[in-house]
Amino acid sequence: MSKLLATTFTGLRFENPFLLASAPPTESESNIMRAFDAGWGGVVTKTIGLHPVANVAGPKTKFLRAEPDSPHLSMQKRPGTALHSSWNWELISDKTLDWWIPRLGRIKNAHPSKMLIASIMAGSGSDEELRHWQTLAKACQDEGCDGIELNLSCPHMDRKDMGSNIGKDPELLSVVTMAVKEVARVPVWAKLTPSTTDIVVEAKGAFLAGANAITSSNTFPSLPLVDPNTLEFEMNVDGLVSPGGLGGPAILPLSLAKMAQMTQAFPDKAFSGIGGIADFPTALNYFLLGCGTVQVCTAAMLDSAVGPNVIKRLTSGMTETMEKRGWTSLDDFRGLLRNRVVAHSAIRRPDAGAYHGGYEAEGYAAT
Ligand SMILES: Cc1cc2nc3c(=O)[nH]c(=O)nc-3n(C[C@H](O)[C@H](O)[C@H](O)COP(=O)(O)O)c2cc1C
Repeated sequence: MSKLLATTFTGLRFENPFLLASAPPTESESNIMRAFDAGWGGVVTKTIGLHPVANVAGPKTKFLRAEPDSPHLSMQKRPGTALHSSWNWELISDKTLDWWIPRLGRIKNAHPSKMLIASIMAGSGSDEELRHWQTLAKACQDEGCDGIELNLSCPHMDRKDMGSNIGKDPELLSVVTMAVKEVARVPVWAKLTPSTTDIVVEAKGAFLAGANAITSSNTFPSLPLVDPNTLEFEMNVDGLVSPGGLGGPAILPLSLAKMAQMTQAFPDKAFSGIGGIADFPTALNYFLLGCGTVQVCTAAMLDSAVGPNVIKRLTSGMTETMEKRGWTSLDDFRGLLRNRVVAHSAIRRPDAGAYHGGYEAEGYAAT
């Protein structure tokens, strides 16, 4: 284990701060085993629920690609294109807790030094459903999982008391977090949706309820584009589509803006960054804003399903950067740029006196 890359996050010792996010790369025992063999410091399992789910009758994920010399964006595969984003309407794991239980134990036994975080989800409309969260959390920790991540952020839920609909409701997300904290012996991370007006409000709800960390972002609600020739959405079932989630390079700057808001509001709290990470320079953005770990989905999906080359790029890039700068641990650069994100009024202008914050110069309001 490289001492340079090792880090402690929410009390857990990671051999490196890079995790596979809850998504197809972590949907099976064999994927997770391969991911650990490839060098990932941890994984968050595909979200586990109590009840079976049925996905749509068609592809669950596709990739939107851009061309260098034209504004054309399309999911059609064509040479010379660059990845813009992933789009998905995949639900949580189609395997229930019973399927996962023995596998979680086997994975942990095979890789005791790797961090295995179980992502869980249930409804939250009644006391009984809150107990489902507790059942899931207890079962996963009893199998040796090192932490629990609460999926408060899945963007395609029909129910008003599930997924991102919980993440949009600070009271409900506090109730769910408290219910899990009541039974948890391991750290609990709350994965929030970016789809709210002021994510600091939801982060506060999670922390007040005892969350040990915030994970952000899940995918951003979005639609696939329409093919101008067929007038059909590029992804549809029987011509119909429902909002799905955008991931990959396109959400990196969006997710960073959300993260900056939270790390500034809670500089002493723990954050796991996600969104558009594919190499160390992209991950570095999150560390410099104050994140203690980062997670990857889209880039890993496109690299032999579990990202063997992505994790190599991440660890070698981090090692080279740290050696070059003389940093001896992540703590040497975590949060270094957190306070560089300021109000517009704090940005220097050629003539400072000419700026009145959008008010009349003779103004009724102080700048
Ligand atoms: C096909 C697909 C399935 C996903 N499933 C889950 C899930 O079950 N639970 C969850 O918390 N996030 C899920 N996510 C969201 C990812 O964990 C991650 O937050 C998001 O893709 C942004 O990261 P990226 O830009 O690296 O893709 C899924 C994403 C994709 C593309």
